[in-house]
Amino acid sequence: MPIIQFPHEMKWGAATAAYQIEGAAHEDGRGQSIWDTFSHTPGHVKNGDNGDVACDSYHRYEEDIEMMKDLGIEMYRFSVSWPRIFPDGTGEINEEGLQFYHRFVDALLAQGIEPMCTLYHWDLPQALQDKGGWASRETTDAFADYAELMFQEFNGKIKHWITINEPWCVSFLSNFIGVHAPGNQDLQLATTISHHLLLAHGKAVTRFRELESTGEIGYAPNLEWNEPFSDKQEDIDACNRGMGWFIEWFFDPVFKGSYPEFMLNWFEKKGVSLTLEEGDLKLISQPIDFIGINYYTGSVGRYKENEELFDLEKIDIGYNKTDIGWNVYPEGFYKVLCKVKDQYGDIPIYITENGACYNDGVEYGEVHDQRRIEYLKQHLTSLSRSMEAGVNIKGYLTWSLLDNFEWAEGYEKRFGLVHVNFRTLERTKKDSYYWYKQTIANGWLEMK
Ligand code: FCB
Repeated sequence: MPIIQFPHEMKWGAATAAYQIEGAAHEDGRGQSIWDTFSHTPGHVKNGDNGDVACDSYHRYEEDIEMMKDLGIEMYRFSVSWPRIFPDGTGEINEEGLQFYHRFVDALLAQGIEPMCTLYHWDLPQALQDKGGWASRETTDAFADYAELMFQEFNGKIKHWITINEPWCVSFLSNFIGVHAPGNQDLQLATTISHHLLLAHGKAVTRFRELESTGEIGYAPNLEWNEPFSDKQEDIDACNRGMGWFIEWFFDPVFKGSYPEFMLNWFEKKGVSLTLEEGDLKLISQPIDFIGINYYTGSVGRYKENEELFDLEKIDIGYNKTDIGWNVYPEGFYKVLCKVKDQYGDIPIYITENGACYNDGVEYGEVHDQRRIEYLKQHLTSLSRSMEAGVNIKGYLTWSLLDNFEWAEGYEKRFGLVHVNFRTLERTKKDSYYWYKQTIANGWLEMK
């Protein structure tokens, strides 16, 4: 039976985010975030779910960390809830919030698990949204101040920092498509926000370097693969625009110090423009230490006039789909990683999210999520292929440790290696948990 071997130095891990797991929405001085507002507004989240309690990890983190230890992960990616630290977004610091993260990070370190900290995983303080949110450049300064405080507080304890998680989702999904908080549908607004997010990232990197913090910093865009249906130029161009929205738009400014011409032209055709201030691109393009890549899905696409934003029609070729409806497309994972290397060089990469939604439930104390195991195997195979092709992979962190609050989908959609009963909050390890544990212990993948 063939075996796929991973390098000993590659870090294995799992990821979560604050609003999706913590709960304790009104405790210890936490301020309100845009996700509290959004989820409590009827019609936004399935079944009227919200993150008030979520997995209750705020109170149960010790139990969760014990599981991580048992699982054998070397790195855990979590996010900090900005409104726990600055309830109003800026100004007064909430000590209790800081103390919570100190207790949590200390507990991780005590178990020998390296924390990877995301500073912004979507829960913007509502107080900042009230002043314009990410549409306002002032929010980028507020973010840099919050980041600076975190760098100072956790210097030496946290060695891996991610500024912004999935800037595409924060801008376009939340402010153009409108299915995530704050739920706007305005392409110009979303495009402006995409720039401000990169600016916020750049300003945070500046503070990190000025403080001479120990450790590494990067950001974590989400990527998709679009495979041209044919080798007709119009199909290739349409797919490139589709991917350009996720890749070049968010990579070129950081790695090349400019926005991609072909995307600027396209946005212009849609009546959208970018307003840059002097020095923005210099801030945005400062060197970073690694990039985090989140990958879930891909598809075959072709040119079709007036189809979606980019004249790109995605074609259903009969993919297997996860229970959230996303295509299983492991080939795209390999291709997207190779594309990043070809275009942006040998930057170290952490896979900061990759995983699948399958809603298998508990039967006699067990969860048989064989489909998740297959998904992970296929994607780890693609990862290994990319490493053979020279992609500089430093770690693989699966999404997610626990079933959790899946944003607009509420609690129905389950991505965890560990099942959570959202009534009793009981945790049950799934078959995929035991499989991942064995894979980590082996350092190789068995393809039987
Ligand atoms: C990503 C998000 C993460 C989770 C997964 C399924 O887009 O970063 O929080 O919801 O999707």
